[in-house]
Formats: sequence, C-alpha cells, structure tokens
Amino acid sequence: MRLLFIGDIIGRPGRELLRKGLKALVNHHGVDFVIANAENSAAGFGITKDIGDTLLEYGVDVMTSGNHVWDKKEAMNYIATERRLLRPANYPAGAPGRGSCVAESGDGRPVGIVNVMGRVFMTPIDDPFAGVLTEIDGLRSKTRVIVVDFHAEATSEKIAMGWHLDGKATLVVGTHTHVQSADERILPNGTAYLTDAGMTGPHDGIIGMEREPSLARFLTGMPSRFEPASANPRLNGVLVSADEKTGRATSVTRLSYSEQELAALASRVAATTSSR
Ligand SMILES: [Fe+2]
Ligand SMILES: [Fe+2]
Repeated sequence: MRLLFIGDIIGRPGRELLRKGLKALVNHHGVDFVIANAENSAAGFGITKDIGDTLLEYGVDVMTSGNHVWDKKEAMNYIATERRLLRPANYPAGAPGRGSCVAESGDGRPVGIVNVMGRVFMTPIDDPFAGVLTEIDGLRSKTRVIVVDFHAEATSEKIAMGWHLDGKATLVVGTHTHVQSADERILPNGTAYLTDAGMTGPHDGIIGMEREPSLARFLTGMPSRFEPASANPRLNGVLVSADEKTGRATSVTRLSYSEQELAALASRVAATTSSR
C-alpha cells in the first residue's frame, strides 16, 4: 500500500497546487491513500468547512492539523461533524473533534491516522508521548498501517517521537515548521520517519506568508497583519510504501514539486491515460 502525506497547505496557493496536481501525483506514484495537514489552508490561518470539503474533493482522504486549527471559529463546528478532519489528540479534554481515526482507501483497505502536537516552544498541552500510544492502541485492532503527524517545532522532540514509535507506526512525520527536512529514513523496527514534511504553498515568502509584514515584525517588534505569499508555489510531502500485514514501511521518499513540475506531470499522466 502506498501512502502520500502532504505538508501544511497554505491558503489558496497551496490549495491550487492540489487542485491542479494531486490526481496526477496519485496516478503517477500509484498512491492508495492521501493525508494532508490543513491547519493553514484558509488564508494561512485555520480551516473552514468550504475549504475542507474542497480539499476532500481534490482527493485528500484525511486532514490533520495543529496549533492553527482553531483560527477560524467555524472550525469548531466543522471538526465536530467531519470525521476526516483531525486535531492534535493531546488537547485537554473538552476540545471538540478527534485526534485519530481509521479511514479506508478507495478499495476498502483500512489506514489509521493519529495527530499529536509537541510541547517544546509551543502551547504546553497534554503529554503527546503518552497520548500517542493511547491513540495507537485504540486503532491497532482495526489496522496495522498507522500514520502519525507530529505537529511540533523542536527537531529533538520530533526525533524522540520517531524513536518512541519505532515498530508501532508505519510513518511518523513532522509538520509545523513549513520547511522540509532531508532526514527521511526507515528506523530499525520498520517505522518510516521524516522530521518535517515541509509546506505546500508559496516558498518565496517567510514560511508561507508575505515577506514584508513578516520581516517588519522582526525589524520593529510591532504587530503586523500576515497574508499568504504567492511566489514560487511548491507541493511538499512524503511518499511511503507499507506492508499491510505487518504495518512496516518498505520505502520512504521525500517529494517537492514546483507548480511547473506538477503541471508537466499532469499532462504526462493525461497523455498516458488517454492513449490506453
Ligand atoms: Fe502550519
Ligand atoms: Fe503549526
């Protein structure tokens, strides 16, 4: 089984990459199941029902999130009713929504997804290391294939989570920094690991936002209003092959596609499918 995980989608530029390229990417790589972090999909901050539903239409099977999931008020209602949108499982009791689920690929094979959030340089919510084991235990009887999105800032905390879950998850992938790391590997007990999947959005801004207001905040220390940037959109993610019987990863590949590369892929895929 082949799984695609897509790094934080930033506003319209990020969504457009999925609209134009996700089906081709799935076709080209023989992907069975798509997970995407959608915490920044609404203008860089949060998610709305319209946008979440659109991402599902584009071919995302399950959406994960992080600290920005609550930025748009309507997400509180949306996450309570949409089982395919997760928030970090280690939010204290009382937060709406869920931190894990089992969903099925197009041909009916189950995939477990868990979302947890780190505590280093972030809001110190409940313990993600204990919480993730509870969530995995809850999914284990339904599927061996389990993907964990660890939404965290510190590389040390993320690497610790990778080793914590080696042999317990198929993929442990980090999100939140919006910068793809280059340390993909399969750990000794079969867990694919990548510190950060990166960002699906404009790469010529400052982690997805327009440069000027972000830079101004550093230069002056004054608050400024952030809007998503637009230049140099790229789709970042990671592709994993998994043995469904054991849940072990058999390959892990980082992906980073420019808009032009995705368009070229889409036209190649269209040409081969129409000539069949
Ligand atoms: Fe993010
Ligand atoms: Fe985040």
